[in-house]
Amino acid sequence: MAKKKSAKKSMSSGGSRPGVSARAAVKQARNGPKVVARKSPVHGRGMFALVDIAKGARIIEYKGRKITWAQADRWYADDDTKPSHTFLFTLDDRYVLDGNKGGNSARWINHSCKPNCESDIVDGRIWIEALRNIKAGEELYYDYNITLEDPHTPAEKRRWPCLCGNKGCRGTLLAKKR
Ligand SMILES: C[S@@+](CC[C@H](N)C(=O)[O-])C[C@H]1O[C@@H](n2cnc3c(N)ncnc32)[C@H](O)[C@@H]1O
Ligand SMILES: [Zn+2]
Repeated sequence: MAKKKSAKKSMSSGGSRPGVSARAAVKQARNGPKVVARKSPVHGRGMFALVDIAKGARIIEYKGRKITWAQADRWYADDDTKPSHTFLFTLDDRYVLDGNKGGNSARWINHSCKPNCESDIVDGRIWIEALRNIKAGEELYYDYNITLEDPHTPAEKRRWPCLCGNKGCRGTLLAKKR
C-alpha cells in the first residue's frame, strides 16, 4: 500500500497453536508448506506458521500483478465512509503488487505493531522473512507502515484502525511519520 495507501505490510506474537502433531509438523517442514491461511483473531483471515520458523528465514513471497500507483488509484478508489482494506503492497514510488490479481496466500498476512516478520524487496520481488524465531501456531504479522500522500490526521488514522491488541499498539495501520 502507498500513494493514498503505502502498505509496507508486516506482523506480531501470540496466537493459538493449531492441532499439528509433532510428526505432521516434521513432514510439513520437509515437504509441505510452512504456513497456512485461516481465520485470525485480529482480522478476517490471517497466515499462521505450521512449523517452527527460524529468525531470518524467508517464509513466503508476496505475489501479485505489478501495476502502477496510477492504475491502483483508478481501480481501488478510496471510500472515505468505510474503514480501508487493501491488498496492495508497495514496491517503490511507481509500482505496487496487487494481491487481488495473481496473488498468493501471503496476501492474508495481517499487520501488527509488534511484528514477527518483515518484508525484504530484492530485484522487484517482495519476500516475507522472520524477524525472530516463530513457533508453530503463531500468526504471522508485519508492520504495514502505510504511508498516505495526505497528512495522517486523526480521522485518517481511524480509517485504518489497528486491532493487533499489543501493548504499545499505535491504534492505526498508518506509519508513524506524520
Ligand atoms: C492484506 S489484507 C490482510 C488479510 C485480511 N485479514 C483479510 O481477511 O482480508 C489487509 C487488510 O486487513 C485488515 N487488517 C490487517 N491487519 C489488521 C490489524 N492489525 N487490525 C485491523 N485490521 C487489519 C485491514 O483491513 C487491511 O487493509
Ligand atoms: Zn496495533
